[in-house]
Amino acid sequence: MPAISQFPQKRMRRMRRNEFSRRLMRENQLHADDLIYPVFVLDGEKREEKVPSMPGVVRQSLDVLLFRAERCLELGIPALAIFPVIDAGLKNETASEALNPAGLVPRVVSALKARFPELGIITDIALDPYTSHGQDGLIDPSGYVMNEETVAVLTQQALVHAQAGADVVAPSDMMDGRIGAIRSELENRGLIHTRILAYSAKYASSFYGPFRDAVGSAANLGTGNKYTYQMDPANSDEALWEVALDLEEGADMVMIKPGLPYLDIVRRIKERFGAPTFVYQVSGEYAMLKAAGQNGWLDERACVLEALLACKRAGADGILTYYATEVAEWLRQR
Ligand code: PBG
Repeated sequence: MPAISQFPQKRMRRMRRNEFSRRLMRENQLHADDLIYPVFVLDGEKREEKVPSMPGVVRQSLDVLLFRAERCLELGIPALAIFPVIDAGLKNETASEALNPAGLVPRVVSALKARFPELGIITDIALDPYTSHGQDGLIDPSGYVMNEETVAVLTQQALVHAQAGADVVAPSDMMDGRIGAIRSELENRGLIHTRILAYSAKYASSFYGPFRDAVGSAANLGTGNKYTYQMDPANSDEALWEVALDLEEGADMVMIKPGLPYLDIVRRIKERFGAPTFVYQVSGEYAMLKAAGQNGWLDERACVLEALLACKRAGADGILTYYATEVAEWLRQR
């Protein structure tokens, strides 16, 4: 007979026995402070359109958005991220509408800041909502997204947003050198308080499908892809390199995107750099949870809270999630 002790050396289950000791040893908590609410805005008035692949998510005009912004404040959500739905007639090869100081995003930003100054406003710096081809930048005759030419436009786009009052500009385009270029332009113009949230590790993910439907860039992109600028899902060291460059160039915060399938990247980045680190629970992640919930296959609320808590455990300081307002409400009810 092998000598097996009759009792376990240490009973890990003792601390799990009661709610009080589970609470005492809990390492991570999800809080409304951790949430950023992404919203899709449309031109016009009293418009609210459903996004078919994202049940519960709408595209809305500014007047409707003001109610949602107020709700964010009431719920303690610190910031809102704006994604525009640009009329097809305003899209072209050069994304010229992206630089219009009287365009949709600048108008929405200044209205939100005027009405709710304490709500943080984040804008997306990328050209895909504005291009007739659906790419995030300007293309050459072969269809290749040109780096410097694109960075020049992104820099102006960031300036227009910052001048309209955006608190944070968030380049999601993955061009090389754009953080440095945007930072210098902002400094030169005296916009020293505008923060840059760099989508540093943005993967060429298939989980963005519903978003492209929401902003109407899917049809423009067609069978095109973003492999020449977004990262290969196979890579991890490369993400650290991207983050190092963006921080060197002047980013205040970095983002990893998508979320749940990429939490190993979040952990490595937070551990290595210790910078404010964010993660984007993207449209496809939302769609999966929503669909399974609607079918009764998963407990939606429990799974959403678990997925977001996992983001925090991985090291995220904050999470962009289409569930933000729902989650803030659930957290209140606990
Ligand atoms: C593009 C952009 C994308 C998302 C945010 N900004 C999609 C893309 O790269 O094609 C996706 C967000 C989501 O899926 O929720 N600049």
